[in-house]
Amino acid sequence: MSPVENKSIEVFAARLEPAGTRFDAPADVPLLQAALRAGIELPSSCRNGTCRTCMCRLLEGRIAYRIEWPGLSLEEKQEGLILPCVAYPASSVVIELLRR
Ligand code: FES
Repeated sequence: MSPVENKSIEVFAARLEPAGTRFDAPADVPLLQAALRAGIELPSSCRNGTCRTCMCRLLEGRIAYRIEWPGLSLEEKQEGLILPCVAYPASSVVIELLRR
């Protein structure tokens, strides 16, 4: 087994409001993909952080982006809005679907 395969990935707990649905959120998987793996459908389209279809609010916890500037303004980020298709969990998280 290579050192990369040996590395253990932290798995956080995620909860999706308002339904309160829980799913496992590995640190190396975007939240949208982790939800899909658990059979939870979230709105999505581009899955690369530009279309904003997946936008949710982060109620608790921390996330990190691996792309330079996901399609959110600084103000939106400060309001807690996130793009789950490119947001990796950095702790256990609670996210909320936005009303559309
Ligand atoms: S699906 Fe397009 S920004 Fe997330």
